[in-house]
Amino acid sequence: MRTLALLTLLAASSAFAATDADREKAFKADIAPILEKSCIGCHGKDKAKKPKGGFDATSFATVVKGGKEAGAGITWGDAAKSALYKSAELGISSPEDDLAMPPKKAKERHPLTKEQLEKVKAFIEKNK
Ligand code: HEC
Repeated sequence: MRTLALLTLLAASSAFAATDADREKAFKADIAPILEKSCIGCHGKDKAKKPKGGFDATSFATVVKGGKEAGAGITWGDAAKSALYKSAELGISSPEDDLAMPPKKAKERHPLTKEQLEKVKAFIEKNK
């Protein structure tokens, strides 16, 4: 019985513990294309310019890290504590907010769609 409990525990934890390699693979497949369309124009595409707010959205490592002021780009398991999610969510729900991304004043704005936002949320919360 005890063995069974232990095996169940092991199976449950391995199902949820994502490695950085898993996360990066999912990032490249699902998230990078979204950021490419909506974010990197101001956040790292032009290597000759500094990314706005110190947030480089062109690589997995720098997206996880985040920028200068808004905290971690990604806190695994918690979208509400992830600047990547928060800024994109505000970009849809409250474009007036300082952290709303893309900023309201941007000439060409491609806020995420609701579906894309859900993808970002699932990516952060599932890969903990
Ligand atoms: C038109 C340009 C533009 C686009 C497009 C844009 N941003 Fe920004 N972003 C900015 C600027 C400018 C700042 C800095 C704001 C400030 O310092 O007041 C910023 C800051 C940020 C920050 C805060 C960095 C920090 O910690 O200080 C995050 C996170 C962010 N952007 C995410 C995104 C995401 C995600 C997208 C795509 C959905 C995006 N941005 C699209 C211009 C842009």
